[in-house]
Order: sequence, then structure tokens, then C-alpha cells
Amino acid sequence: MVAPDPGGLRRAAELLRRGSVVAFPTETVYGLGADAFNARAIAEVYRLKNRPAWNPLIVHVPGVAAARELAEEWPDAAQELAARFWPGPLTLVVRRSSRLNDVGRTAAGTIAVRVPAHPVARALLDACGLPLAAPSANRSEGISPTTAQHVIQSLPEVPLVLDGGPCALGIESTVVDLTTSPPRLLRPGAFPLRAIRAVVGRLALPGDTVADGAERPSPGMGRRHYAPRAKVVLTDDVDGDLPDSYGVLAYQGEEGPRREILSADPREYAADLYAALHRLDDAGVSVILVQPPSDGEDWLAIRDRLHRAAAG
Ligand code: TXA
Ligand code: MG
Repeated sequence: MVAPDPGGLRRAAELLRRGSVVAFPTETVYGLGADAFNARAIAEVYRLKNRPAWNPLIVHVPGVAAARELAEEWPDAAQELAARFWPGPLTLVVRRSSRLNDVGRTAAGTIAVRVPAHPVARALLDACGLPLAAPSANRSEGISPTTAQHVIQSLPEVPLVLDGGPCALGIESTVVDLTTSPPRLLRPGAFPLRAIRAVVGRLALPGDTVADGAERPSPGMGRRHYAPRAKVVLTDDVDGDLPDSYGVLAYQGEEGPRREILSADPREYAADLYAALHRLDDAGVSVILVQPPSDGEDWLAIRDRLHRAAAG
């Protein structure tokens, strides 16, 4: 764990330029970064995370110009979304430039890009001068890390973790595919859908058919994902006496041992969700009872993560 001061940033940038990997904070979750153009570094990311090869990585860049260099086409919608909402927790999927080698390769010939807002992520992008492929810095299918300590617990082999404190948003970026008509939501996340709709109009949700007929769900949205070690059960029945092997995650009621009460505000809830799941895992519970969050689009990303955590 290294402070993101000039010396720490210099060491991190040096490792990245030599083809090693570095974990760093973003406003959403911590990422495991690697030079997006270095096949060996990318392979190390997949190995450390135990990530399946078919699941492509998001590439983090310092600004719109760098994003356009990775794209074969930069549609008007990309231009406008980027101009309005970058830096921020919005990832855009566009056609991948044919000049690129294996970067973020998918069968569909696309690439996912975003400009992160976190000052440490931005300082690191500046210091290394590389586009950084960075998935969340956790073992595949586990809970994403929102502190440097979570990264070290999940991936002890990572050579350097820049410690930027807890992530402000606490849930991953929203991923939108701009290669379909209408654009399609691939992963709900920290960025609100209504802001995207204000630019693109209609937005297809996962499961909707898009005009070009392509069935193109997000490769990374496996059913079981974002899961703690403990078994997650969604239930309204979270009160009363429970055995020590049970934990509770709710947004009403009294806190207590192995009882995490999160905010009833979806942004605050999201900010603490993964940290609370990590705490319950650390407490050694084998079952986590989760009070189902309310309906409504503000809770979409949270419902998505909890249902995946409970699947399988
Ligand atoms: O907030 C975030 O997005 C964090 C921070 C570190 O930036 N990163 C993150 O990366 O969550 P990861 O790898 O855990 O999730 C990336 C998601 C996956 O669901 C993946 O399948 C999808 O984006 N993805 C990446 N490239 C894609 C592509 N070309 N087409 C469709 N989906 C893609
Ligand atoms: Mg992830």
C-alpha cells in the first residue's frame, strides 16, 4: 500500500511502463491497471483476477481525444455524452479501431472506454502516459474493492496499491453500448440513466431487442457475480433473533453485531454496500440476509448487484 504522493505515483507509473500491474482508486471502485497496449501486462491482469479470457476490460484514458484514438467510429452520441459527463462513472462501448492490436478485444470488435474522475486515477494516467486497461481489482466474481485494504485482501500478489482512501461512489460505472440502435445499457451503475436518455433518447435495457437484431449482452454480466463468500439471501424477514452465523444488511432498523444498516438514500447505500458486504464476510458469517431494496430506477444498479450476489 503506497500513498499517492509524487514518489508513489512515480513508482506506480514506472511499474506500468515496465509492463507490470498497479491497483489504483477511481471514484467508483479500485481498478487493477495495466498498459492497454502490452499483451503481457494484460495477461497478468487476467491471471491475478482469475478472469475468463472472454470478458474484456474497460480502458481508462485521460480525455476525449485519447478515447477517440481507440475508436474506429466516434458517434455523435459518444461525443455529446463524453463532453457532458466525462470525467465520470460512465463507460462507452464503441467500435474498436482497426489500428489496435489485442486491446480490450471482443468478438464484436468493440472497445469500452471511460475517463475516470478520481484525482489519483487522473494523476496516474498523466504520470504514465498510457491508456490503462483496468477491471475492478478483485478476484473474478467477488465483491469489488472500495478501499486499498479490500484490494490487498482479494489480490495479495499485486505489486503496488495506491491508497486513495474509500471510493466516493462505491459501485461500478454504468456501461452503455453505442454500437446498437438504440444504444443499449449493458450494466447499470453509478451513472444515472435519465442523464443518458437526455442525450440519446431511447435506451434499450438488458433483455430488450435492438434494431440491428444483434443479441449483444454484456459479456461480463454473468449471473453470479459481485458475490461475498457468504451465501446471500434476499428476504423481508431480517428481524428477530438470528444465529451468530447470520449477518443482516438492511436499510431500516437498529445496527448491531453482524447487522449493517445502510442508508435509505440509494447513492449513500451504494457508497457503503460493498464495504458492508466485506465487513460481514470478515465477521465470518455464512449467510447474509438482505432486505430487498425498493423498486425504481434509482435503485437499479443496487438491485442488479444484490441479485447477482444472491444467484447460484
Ligand atoms: O467502475 C468501473 O467501471 C470499474 C473501475 C475500475 O473503472 N471497472 C470495472 O471493470 O468495473 P470490470 O472489468 O470489473 O467490468 C467491466 C465491464 C464488464 O461487465 C465487461 O464485460 C464490460 O464492462 N465490457 C468491457 N469491454 C466491453 C466491450 N467491448 N463490450 C461490452 N462490454 C464490455
Ligand atoms: Mg468487476
